Amino acid sequence: MTPEARSLFVKIAPTARAALSNLPARDVDVFMLRLERYWQDLFDGLEQPYNTRADFEKFVTSLVERLATGYRARPEELKLLDLERGLTPGWFQDERRIGYVFYADRFAGDLRGIEPKLPYLKELGVNYVHLMPLLKPRPGPNDGGYAVEDYRMVDPALGTMDDLGEVCAALRAEGISVCLDLVLNHCAREHEWAARARAGEEEYVKMFHTFPDRTAPDAYERTLPEVLPETAPGNFTWDEAMQRWVWTTFGDYQWDLDWSNPRVFLEVADILLYLANVGVEVFRLDAVAFMWKRLGTDCQNQPEVHDLLQALRACSRIAAPAVIHKAEAIVSPDNLIHYLGTHSRYGKESDLAYHNSLMVQIWSSLASRDTSLMTRTLMDFPEKPANTAWGTYVRGHDDIGWAITEEDAARVGLDGPAHRAFLSDYYSGEFPGSPARGEVYQLNPQTGDRRISGTLASLAGLEAALESGDPLLVEMSVRRILLAHAVILGYGGVPLIYMGDEIGLLNDFSYLQDPSRKDDNRWMHRPPMDWKRAERRNEPGAVEERIYGGIRALIEARKRTPHLHAATPTHVLDPYNNRVFAFVRPHPLGPLVAVHNFTEHDQRFSGDLPRSQGVYDFHDRISGQPLIIGGVDTVRLGPYQTVWITNGS
Ligand code: GLC
Repeated sequence: MTPEARSLFVKIAPTARAALSNLPARDVDVFMLRLERYWQDLFDGLEQPYNTRADFEKFVTSLVERLATGYRARPEELKLLDLERGLTPGWFQDERRIGYVFYADRFAGDLRGIEPKLPYLKELGVNYVHLMPLLKPRPGPNDGGYAVEDYRMVDPALGTMDDLGEVCAALRAEGISVCLDLVLNHCAREHEWAARARAGEEEYVKMFHTFPDRTAPDAYERTLPEVLPETAPGNFTWDEAMQRWVWTTFGDYQWDLDWSNPRVFLEVADILLYLANVGVEVFRLDAVAFMWKRLGTDCQNQPEVHDLLQALRACSRIAAPAVIHKAEAIVSPDNLIHYLGTHSRYGKESDLAYHNSLMVQIWSSLASRDTSLMTRTLMDFPEKPANTAWGTYVRGHDDIGWAITEEDAARVGLDGPAHRAFLSDYYSGEFPGSPARGEVYQLNPQTGDRRISGTLASLAGLEAALESGDPLLVEMSVRRILLAHAVILGYGGVPLIYMGDEIGLLNDFSYLQDPSRKDDNRWMHRPPMDWKRAERRNEPGAVEERIYGGIRALIEARKRTPHLHAATPTHVLDPYNNRVFAFVRPHPLGPLVAVHNFTEHDQRFSGDLPRSQGVYDFHDRISGQPLIIGGVDTVRLGPYQTVWITNGS
């Protein structure tokens, strides 16, 4: 510990002990050991944002009291899980870890409906579920639950906090971890904090970024991008009640919290521990890039964001160490790696982060049948800390934004804006011959950017193929869906399968009938589970069976392949064929080379590709078969085929 950190620790330690006085001595010791172990991380994370204030010590004391209180309230069963996770800190990195993402109502009606669906989850091999936002949202439009009115209450339409606790316990008993959103960049205008601010309580006004006139907002706007140019132009909203402008990045009813106010940190840490004690094991920290504002910048990815994330993770490690944090930072490739912690924050910031760049590159290569950009971009991606993992995904509840930098595009001879425009044209189905059935989400007239909505299956051409009735087109779209899953299952991290993708659910337009949703076409790719179609996963030859069976086979192959543990690095290789994407996972058991064909035609790669990595006796872990080396020492890949090659079985 640095002397500054040590001296504060010595001062505060008695407060922590006092707050735990009624606990058994061993429990107190455990907490104190963790406090000391993570003190430097906590101290370093809080220093930059808050140490200019005279009351820094008071703030840290109050935080430690809250951590101790959270620990005291932690149920015995979860304290045991804390200890267990201390023995297996890499639990989420395991190759057997498989994630599944769903809305409780769309999957199972409500929270109580989830338990009866357990057999379905287990059959697929799932052991991590992200329950989409389910805390009490504001009435009316609520951005799919991302405008929270009360963080300590479950949406009454879905159940109660007790129900959530029971669901977490039931899933935990089956070895399934629950991930929940913690929306911490903003809260709903109807949240008590905002309501009290609007009622004129100064202390609450200070929890938000508010301004008496347009001077500051105009100054900020000069360098601020518009996140939602169509639905929420500008970043500020005039509030009649307060007679002030409020910072509202995502929409007029989502008020950005002012994280430079330590009170905000205290409140959020409290909420986090409260939900951890209900049984949440993974927090998806929403829209973290936006948490800190700085004049003259785009107000994203500021250094203080990384400090705050490190400090929040230290809070969990101290009071509820079974819990891990997942950063939702949908940012450019060069900003992304920092969310897993780089330099002095190496491996201390978030345990998981979405690999948005991998997702974008999958779609880009599928459209262009050219993997050069994917290979180049991912080859140069900095290595992640060994104790962290990516959340790998093909589709989620959000639109796809083409996070491809001009520099990356230029390096493979592409023009950034032109390629992004091509991808939008392709996936909105405007490009001649495109089989994709997506829609544009949020056209930005200033940059020309057009993001895309649509389900995985519809974007991969299944909808159009089924309408055409052409079995070959259907087969190719099924294979595209499987290829995309093979990439996220092999690349390294927790693969996050989005509900319904495993049976090829198509775009759903029922949201247009709902006034609170009709203006947000992201609902087209949030269909309710179609349990009738899910039944067809058992009908040999049915499309659902081919997709589901294919994904399940990939999951099973992954689970018996230790090379795919997330602590094993991923090095992207040049396959000397720009229709193919390849990487190696150098594992102590021997290397695994994954090769993917991104086209509907046969492709070949040289036998030297695996050999150069130390694989000589080609065995495919997916098919379980040896690979045949053909003419001129090449291996053939069928349309959209993936192989995971290791030395023998
Ligand atoms: C995240 C969510 C998205 C939401 C936004 C604002 O990006 O994934 O759905 O609209 O944050 O909360």
